[in-house]
Amino acid sequence: MTSANETLAGLPVKFKVLFTGFLLVIGVGLLMAGVQIMLTHGMADGKAGLSINDIVYSYYGNRSGSKLESMLNGAMKPMAPDTARFELIQWARDGAPIDAWASRIEPLVQKHCVSCHNGESSLPDFRKAEVVRQAAETDQGASVAFLTRVSHIHLFGIAFIFLFVGWIFAMAEFDRRWQFILIATPFTFLLVDVLSWWLTRLTPIFAWLTMLGGIGYSLASTVMLFTCLTQLWMPRSRWGWYRYLSDPCQAAWTGLRGRPVAGAIVAKLEAAGAVLMRVLGLGDK
Ligand code: HEC
Repeated sequence: MTSANETLAGLPVKFKVLFTGFLLVIGVGLLMAGVQIMLTHGMADGKAGLSINDIVYSYYGNRSGSKLESMLNGAMKPMAPDTARFELIQWARDGAPIDAWASRIEPLVQKHCVSCHNGESSLPDFRKAEVVRQAAETDQGASVAFLTRVSHIHLFGIAFIFLFVGWIFAMAEFDRRWQFILIATPFTFLLVDVLSWWLTRLTPIFAWLTMLGGIGYSLASTVMLFTCLTQLWMPRSRWGWYRYLSDPCQAAWTGLRGRPVAGAIVAKLEAAGAVLMRVLGLGDK
């Protein structure tokens, strides 16, 4: 049982202010993360908006062609006339031979590309033959070095965010069962997300797991954030219905018990849940 001073509504104001500051900053952070994903991965297939293809291109690569080719057929299409584009694409398909660079390729790149792709911007510097040849290699997707780096930063960093959000949410008044599920969800989906990058690198099918992971933990965090903020500052009369939200869910769940197949699954889930609760020392107190 949680006593009144262990609930969010009953906290001293200083802690309410502290938790609110943290939750608001995390909320803005989540929004920014969403925008950043749209701007980086979202454009990977040359079209705006995040799609499964973007995820495949980012992690698996586009193994039927080079980055140079896909960009020249996508976002970089307006940069050069067709004759120049086809010449560049043909060169990439021929394996980007260095002996053709000075005579045929460099003049085209100088004329159409170097105005942006020079050392002064963060774009690859196409004044160097090596850089252009690299873009002309088959796109192998994310490297192992890149994935290990991103994975460990992601896991360490985000685990702390979820720890604190979950900790604060543990003080909210919420149906116990859903509270356990909501606290566990972001961690589970975080693992699914990171695992899916590695799997997608091997086979593009797993890109949908990346999508699912991201949606899963965004949803769970959003519910926790709003619940906490509401209970911290709104009078109980405004959010008391939250606790009744579980009643229809409970009724639907009980209804499943009577069904032949679903009933068996529900029984298994409940048995597993009971074991978990015992292990965690959370039996029905
Ligand atoms: C008006 C400026 C501009 C010009 C001219 C231009 N690009 Fe780009 N290019 C960009 C920008 C901005 C990006 C990064 C944004 C993106 O990925 O869509 C980019 C990205 C690329 C990339 C992907 C780089 C990477 O590693 O992600 C390739 C390949 C590329 N351009 C090829 C070309 C070629 C070839 C030409 C000449 C025919 C060209 N670009 C001309 C602005 C330009």
